[in-house]
Amino acid sequence: GTINRLEAENAVLSQGVVESNHAGFSGTGFVNTVNAVGPYVEWTVNATQAGTATLTFGFANGTTANRPVDVTLNGALVRDELAFNGTGAWTTYSTVTATVTLVAGENKIRATATTANGAANLDYLDIN
Ligand code: GCU
Ligand code: CA
Repeated sequence: GTINRLEAENAVLSQGVVESNHAGFSGTGFVNTVNAVGPYVEWTVNATQAGTATLTFGFANGTTANRPVDVTLNGALVRDELAFNGTGAWTTYSTVTATVTLVAGENKIRATATTANGAANLDYLDIN
């Protein structure tokens, strides 16, 4: 089961703001990043032991263009250009998953936009 839902609105943000104008999000809002390369959302999770975990990112992308992010764990790239494809509307939320190996203790999971469009609107990170 889900060991942790980490809302994007509680994460560390660079070049992003919490908004709530597109209904359907989890929690109290989502993060709207600026349309540029480099904005990120960084979540911290403390794992009691090292091991494989599935990351599930909740998001919406009301455009037709993929808005990939690089996923790093404690600064190391673990997913290159993870796709966040169009969901049809800013109010239509979907998920994308990635399997990673967490370390015991602190894991800083950062999703950084890699195209000039910025990231999709990021809603949450589930860690299972
Ligand atoms: C619109 C939308 C935002 C979204 C932005 C974008 O402005 O309302 O929620 O983040 O487009 O293209 O990134
Ligand atoms: Ca945006």
